[in-house]
Formats: sequence, C-alpha cells, structure tokens
Amino acid sequence: MDAHLNPISRVGVVGLGTIGSQELALWQRTGRETVGFDVSEPRIKALGSQAGSRLSTRIGDLNDADALILCLPNLSPSGENSMAAFDRFVADAQSLDEKERLVVVASTVPIGFTRELAARFGANGRLVAHAPERFDPGRGTELGEIPRVVGALTVEAMKLTIDLYKQAGVTTHPVDPIEVAEASKLLENSFRLVNISFINEFAELCRRLGIVAADVIDAAATKPFAFMAHQPGVGAGGTCIPTMPRYLLDAARQNGLEMPILQDAVTGNEQIIERVAGHLRELLSASGIERGRVLVVGASYKPNYPDARASAAIAFARGLAKHHSVVVYDPIVDSANFPKDVELVRSMPETRFDAVVIALKHRDTNVDALRQLSPVLIDLVRGAVEVTESLSTRK
Ligand SMILES: NC(=O)c1ccc[n+]([C@@H]2O[C@H](COP(=O)([O-])OP(=O)(O)OC[C@H]3O[C@@H](n4cnc5c(N)ncnc54)[C@H](O)[C@@H]3O)[C@@H](O)[C@H]2O)c1
Repeated sequence: MDAHLNPISRVGVVGLGTIGSQELALWQRTGRETVGFDVSEPRIKALGSQAGSRLSTRIGDLNDADALILCLPNLSPSGENSMAAFDRFVADAQSLDEKERLVVVASTVPIGFTRELAARFGANGRLVAHAPERFDPGRGTELGEIPRVVGALTVEAMKLTIDLYKQAGVTTHPVDPIEVAEASKLLENSFRLVNISFINEFAELCRRLGIVAADVIDAAATKPFAFMAHQPGVGAGGTCIPTMPRYLLDAARQNGLEMPILQDAVTGNEQIIERVAGHLRELLSASGIERGRVLVVGASYKPNYPDARASAAIAFARGLAKHHSVVVYDPIVDSANFPKDVELVRSMPETRFDAVVIALKHRDTNVDALRQLSPVLIDLVRGAVEVTESLSTRK
C-alpha cells in the first residue's frame, strides 16, 4: 500500500523530558517545522525558546502535526512502573482535529502495549508504530547515530516511519510483529541489568578476597570474543535499567513462566546497596567505630551526567545515613532538585572522614586527593578496598 501521508512536513514531539527534548532537536536539525508538547509548564519554561519550534502545554498546538513522536514516561513520580501518562495523552488527544497522523511510540513499553494503545485511538490508530528510543545520556553518542528498531501495525505505518527517520539520517531495522520491537528494548535493558548485577556481585567477592575487580575484568577483556567488560559500581540506577525489566517479568508471569535469573538481577541490584553498607560497617567496627563520618563520592545516576533521578548512589548514601554521618560529594550533579535530606558538597572536602566510598566516577575524579581524606577508601568502580593506615591509630 502506498503511504498517504508522505511527505511528513510537521513533526510533533509529545513529552519533552530527557528523550523528548533530544527527539525534538533531531527533527529541528532536519529543518522541519516542529512542535513540542508537554503537560508541565515548568518543563516548557526550562526549555526556553527553541529556534524553529513551538513549545506548548496546549494539546491543540499538535493539530498541525502530521506525525507525533510519543516520548512519555513509563514510571509514576514515585518510581513505580506506570503507563498513566499514556492514559492521559489518549484522553487529551480526543480533542485533536480528526486527521490521519503517524504516531510513533518512542517510549519503552510493555509487550503488547502499542497494539492496545492503537486500539484506543479508534479509527486514528491505523498509523501506529513503535521505534523504542535507545539513547544513552552522557555517553557522547548523538540520538540520531543510534539505529532504531521499528515495528508497526500496518505496512503503511512502517513505511512512513522508516522514511521519516531516513530523512533524519537515522538507520532503521524493521521487525514484525510490532511486539518484537517492544521485546527487543526490554531485552536490551534486562541484558544490561543482569550483567551489572553480576559484575557487582563479582566485585564484592573481589573486595573480600583483597583483589581488584577492575584488574580481573581488564584481564578477562583481553579475550577477543565472548566477553563483554562491565564496570562495577553501586548498582544500576536511573529510570530505565532497574525498572524496565519488571515489564519482562510481568510478561513472564502472565504466561505462567518464571525468570529466576532476571528476578535475581532485579533483587541483586537492590541488595548491592545493603551489602556494601554491611562491608563498610564491618571495616569501621573493627576499629571500634559504630557511627563514622563517611564521604560518598558521586550522586548522579551515571558518570558524567548531572541527572540524580533514581540514583543508586543517593539510595546508598541514604541507607548509610541510618548508621553514619554521611556527606555526598559530586561536582557536577544537578543541585536544583537534589533531595533535601542528603548533605551535598560540590567541591573536594578539606576535612577528614572515617571512610570514603567512591560510588561513581565522573571524568577527572581525583582518586589521589580522595585517598588523602581517609584511612579507608572503598572504590566501588574498581571493586577495590584500600585501608592505608590502622583506623585506631588515625589522628
Ligand atoms: N532517559 C533515558 O535515558 C531514556 C533512554 C531510552 C529510553 N527512554 C524512555 O523514554 C521515555 C521518556 O523518558 P524520559 O527520560 O525522557 O522521561 P522524563 O521523565 O525525562 O520526561 C517525560 C516528560 O513527559 C512529560 N509528560 C508526562 N505526562 C505527559 C502527558 N500526558 N503529555 C505530555 N507530556 C507528558 C513530563 O512532564 C516530562 O517532561 C521513557 O519511556 C523511557 O523509558 C529513556
């Protein structure tokens, strides 16, 4: 079937968070007219004016768009998996003018979700596709450089989506049925979580054995095949990797299946925080310190990126603060929405601590300077523990 909508001249992006703002920039670069829609007035204000783009909280401003790219969240504000933002959008979209539009779901969604969503659009659900976003903020790779897996409900929706992304220079990988696209994204997130949970478990063993996990990983990585180096840390954080695998576990449960490896990776990720805290408690109590002064290095959810939402480092600092006096040091974290219950410093402290725990390392993290601050340094990124002087003889 030939596409009726070609060429698409106006692209609307729905949800202008981390991903939506990048999608918008992608379409702006193609020279298209773009319109960005978000329900949050503060978010629209924060984005400021964008050349060639109308940003709005009014759903009616999407009327002109021939294609809508949905970059809506899949978590509730408290971090539970939730597709409520889509419910709200379906309701809001009822007031749009009747006209055929391509709808591309860029969000990560449960398997089967896009098909159900299309059914809720009624007659307008014919041109629905899913092209899950795989952007990795802070990595330095542009969103448009990452190939997009595309699934669609009709041949026409597939053709329109592939043509659209082609015009932005984005490589596409068509799959069928649409559920393959949904499952591929959940597989990517789950694969990452299983590997991160495992490497953290392994790093803990190394710390206990007195060897450095990073040295072991570097050695294993000299094998030219069948090994993929993962870096340890304080656990996977952020709004994707720890949470999206839950959708795969739900799908398994609904189909009478258990996925114990994935389930353990989810719980193992949560446990890493308690395990490191337990190890630190042992180290300190060996020197009679029950309540120590601890510096946690790193607060954002990943290196070289300021976003602290769902940060494992903050969860770790909070857990530690139940037993110790904790200060968090992070020179680049976004302090605007930083939790008030966690003490944050943005420059290298000058006082001494009973222990320093490196939860994550941004570029230029000065480990030598941190070493001077305490007799105990737990470097979770290297999977190493350094005790440089007896705690009981420290000044
Ligand atoms: N952040 C990442 O690194 C990343 C990477 C790949 C995929 N994803 C996926 O992309 C999607 C979006 O993630 P994000 O990190 O950009 O989320 P985000 O929380 O940063 O942004 C979501 C935006 O949507 C807005 N919004 C909420 N409900 C809305 C509605 N009904 N209508 C219009 N706007 C609405 C919010 O105000 C917010 O600005 C998620 O499904 C996520 O899993 C995220």
